[in-house]
Amino acid sequence: MKEHHVSSYAGAVEALRHPQMVQALYDAGAVIMHKTLLTLDGEEHRLRRLLENRVFRKEFLAYYERDVFPATLTATLASYLDAGRMDLIDFGRRVTMNLTADFAGIDRPEGSADETAVLFELVKIFSEGATLVHSKRVKSEVESEVRAALQVLDARFVQPSIRRRQQLIAKFGRGELSEEELPRDILTVLLRNEDRVELPPDVLLREMAFYLQAGSHSTSNSLAHAMHEIFLWCERHPEDWQRVVEDRLFLQRCVHESLRLHPASPVAWRRPTCPFSMQGGDALTEQDRVVIDLASANRDPSIYGADAGEFNPSRVIPRGHFPFGLTFSSGVHTCLGRDLDGGVIAKPDTDPAKHQYGLISLLIGALLDAGVRPDPDQPPVPDAHTQRPNWGRYPVVFTR
Ligand code: HEM
Repeated sequence: MKEHHVSSYAGAVEALRHPQMVQALYDAGAVIMHKTLLTLDGEEHRLRRLLENRVFRKEFLAYYERDVFPATLTATLASYLDAGRMDLIDFGRRVTMNLTADFAGIDRPEGSADETAVLFELVKIFSEGATLVHSKRVKSEVESEVRAALQVLDARFVQPSIRRRQQLIAKFGRGELSEEELPRDILTVLLRNEDRVELPPDVLLREMAFYLQAGSHSTSNSLAHAMHEIFLWCERHPEDWQRVVEDRLFLQRCVHESLRLHPASPVAWRRPTCPFSMQGGDALTEQDRVVIDLASANRDPSIYGADAGEFNPSRVIPRGHFPFGLTFSSGVHTCLGRDLDGGVIAKPDTDPAKHQYGLISLLIGALLDAGVRPDPDQPPVPDAHTQRPNWGRYPVVFTR
């Protein structure tokens, strides 16, 4: 097996969009990732993605951002604001877990602290399972923890959520409910399964676990990186404190710039399904692995300029490229949560009052409104449990 490294932007796009390349990063994390959307290819992938994509429609994302999300945010933030301080990582995980659970279709009927705590621990375990390839722990230990966690998720959360939805779908079938009254989440879409895709119970369970961890950990890590970059930027440009609080389009630019510099998945892996040569001349066979360095591609000076490695929210982005680079990948596996988290890219004539900013900008906006600043007594600490460059703890205080 030969490992080919791709670090240029053009090479990364070619590899990610190549029809003869399939997913290879999650083989080690099969205990949780086997047959989830991200690991499928070909027709099986196309059909499942088409089905799930129904939940990510534009008008629903706008409704979610405007009507559903602010309530969850206010409720989660209240106790932290009272305390006057918090760990950004802990807050990010809790708030994004609740939001992703709603999106996935995992009910939390008790609404109790115990129930949230149980789900929170499960998501932590799933996240470690999905990124096993980068874990510093013994593989078999993590795998047994994931298996046990899946059983708890199934019995306590997934089965009751399925039963409730099946009753609602049956009522809809009898004409007692309108389509708008059905829950708008992945589980409902999968149970209705209008396209008749193959979904045995173990696959359904892993898909739910995959969504819970895919949505929450990437969002909370990105939140901490963006907050950190904004702190550093405003330290060097104090005149921008006011702007970042008042100009939400500028704040979204800061978030996109940070997403570009700190992709939640720094690499994507692909495997060729037949021998072929890449445009750069690399000859590949089915036994090879292509490691696509998203973090380097996002800093490619030929696209983002000579200062591509720097955080600069005023950077001019060339036409046809994303301000957040390849952080949400490209090609058939492009992140389904991209617009939910990153929002829509603003144009010169965008109306700030009607714009969809994305969850990360909304979360940071709420923290900035409360006068968030780094805790002067406790510096942030990198996460020691993974090779990924994430923050483990990020203490902040509120000055308003
Ligand atoms: C900052 C936040 C996020 C980042 C950086 C991110 C990044 C990514 C990346 C890089 C991939 C593709 C990996 C590859 O090509 O091998 C991906 C796939 C995916 N993401 Fe995200 N993600 C984020 C948030 C979310 C959220 C909030 C959700 C759902 C609520 C989500 C759902 C998915 C799904 C379903 C896929 C699989 C798509 C497919 O294979 O067709 N992501 N994400």
